[in-house]
Amino acid sequence: MKSIAQKLSFILLVSASVNLLAHTAMAADAPANDKQAKNAIETRKAAFHLIGTSFKPIGDAVQGKAEFNQADIQKRANRILMLTDFLEASFPESSNLGEPDTKASADIWAKKAEFDKKLKDFQEHAATLAKVAATETSATPAFKEAFGAVGKDCKGCHDTFKVK
Ligand code: HEC
Repeated sequence: MKSIAQKLSFILLVSASVNLLAHTAMAADAPANDKQAKNAIETRKAAFHLIGTSFKPIGDAVQGKAEFNQADIQKRANRILMLTDFLEASFPESSNLGEPDTKASADIWAKKAEFDKKLKDFQEHAATLAKVAATETSATPAFKEAFGAVGKDCKGCHDTFKVK
């Protein structure tokens, strides 16, 4: 029959090992998580940057500041749609790092459902714009409407979820 002291030291040893394992697991997780966060931030910034440079010339054409070149506009609209695909997986909780790392507001994770809805609407409106761009050869009312819906999404999300 083991003494109480022996049993106690066994329990202490087990709990110490569990603690040690937990710490090791956390230490191993930390850099991976950190890398995941940095990658996500890089990906979404790159995607938004390209969305921005693709979107602006479409706006110029809609406003008559530039010629409406259908082939060019269709290409840009398709790019925007393709780039929205990168955004879905680019907002993991670990990437809620605040400035200076990111201008993504902490509200994204506090109001995840609202943010996800805005992202989904953006994707849908970008798909509509790409579709309309395939048929319209000038800034018709249909084209302007599709363009306007996307523009509203940019502003609507930035006002709520992007730090100024
Ligand atoms: C669902 C939300 C949402 C929508 C829709 C959205 N954005 Fe953003 N945008 C963000 C957030 C959040 C950031 C900050 C990203 C970061 O710093 O990690 C951002 C950053 C940017 C940036 C800066 C990228 C950089 O270089 O750091 C540009 C440019 C941009 N968005 C353009 C646009 C345009 C143009 C549209 C519409 C066609 C748009 N965004 C739609 C949320 C959104």
